Amino acid sequence: MTSPDPEYIIYLDNAATTFPKPEVVYRAADEFYRRYGGNAGRGTNLLARKGTEQIAETRALLADWLGVPAPERVIFTPSATIALNHAILGADLRPGDVVYLTPFEHNSVLRPVEHLRRTVGVEVLEIPFYRQTYACDLDRLATLFHADPPALVCVTQASNVCGLMPPVREIARLAKAANSGVIVIVDGAQTAGLYPLDLQSGLIDALVFSGHKSLYGPYGVAGLVLASDWRPEPILFGGTGTVSESVTMPGEPPSAYEPGSHNTWAIAGLKAALEWLRQTGREAIVAHTMDLVGQLRDELVALPGVTVHASPTEMPWCGIVSFTIAGVRPQAIEAALGAKGIAVRAGLHCAPWAHRWLGTLESGGTVRASFSYTTTDSDLLGFVRYIEQLTEGRR
Ligand code: ALA
Repeated sequence: MTSPDPEYIIYLDNAATTFPKPEVVYRAADEFYRRYGGNAGRGTNLLARKGTEQIAETRALLADWLGVPAPERVIFTPSATIALNHAILGADLRPGDVVYLTPFEHNSVLRPVEHLRRTVGVEVLEIPFYRQTYACDLDRLATLFHADPPALVCVTQASNVCGLMPPVREIARLAKAANSGVIVIVDGAQTAGLYPLDLQSGLIDALVFSGHKSLYGPYGVAGLVLASDWRPEPILFGGTGTVSESVTMPGEPPSAYEPGSHNTWAIAGLKAALEWLRQTGREAIVAHTMDLVGQLRDELVALPGVTVHASPTEMPWCGIVSFTIAGVRPQAIEAALGAKGIAVRAGLHCAPWAHRWLGTLESGGTVRASFSYTTTDSDLLGFVRYIEQLTEGRR
């Protein structure tokens, strides 16, 4: 099989990573690294200082874009997974503490929590959602929180499987009402910066973001925002270029959680991406992707044998559509699409609970198409035409 020419690929896997990036992102990362490839925060030579400046400027832009009160609260990590590990493993939980998770959490949440269940003895409970409407059952949740007060609540801002956006604020409010000391962590890997999230309300303790998804930057830079006064225990240790005489980590963020050399190549790209985002505007990006979601859902539900895994009523949603075709393995659909130069992601998407909840765990998951600002109507049309061919003759 010859590989499709990347010039002609229809790329609908933006939930895995947005692609292509704005041209300025490639240019900025390349130019910065070619000119200023010194090690940020290590020494006072010109190249090191340029790196340090670049990090500070990107941190400030991120704080502004995400609505964080102080740039020091933005901690850079190499991936959102590592940021989630910082927050969850650093939460200092005790045996018997109760952790609540939505059914839509990614393995980056499920696995560290499972580690705590086995090693510490925390109890893990699921936040209830109505199967028919996809709405969170907030009344039942309040009862659960009352009976077993939460020590930690992890809520994804958007499911990477189906695009559903749980009511983060309401869940956090109920959690804080049941236990004022609860830690609320929001996984914003898919959506951070695109949808409103009040990080100054005191309801959210930490937000995780991914640089290479909703922020349109490169791989290798992500982070943890410490929105409240809560400070996780550090889980990684090493050199920070500061207080080098001490064998303990600096006490304050961001250095307390940023051991090791920074990825200034990626951070330079992210800075350009944030400037591009500011010019483009979050409303324009959300409107474009949601227009594509609406069109694709309408087209797919009209096809025989196709089930779209989405709420039948208007609900907060991001730029993801997950579907199945009766009797066809999702992986076979992905492979057939791939052979035509159409990129989607099929399977469990590293989120097995979401598929258990959707009822697609045993049958191999779903096919996921996901959009970005660069997805065009003709991309959508090409994709729909091919799915039509796959379902032909089924009526
Ligand atoms: N978590 C990413 C996805 O949903 C990689 O595809």
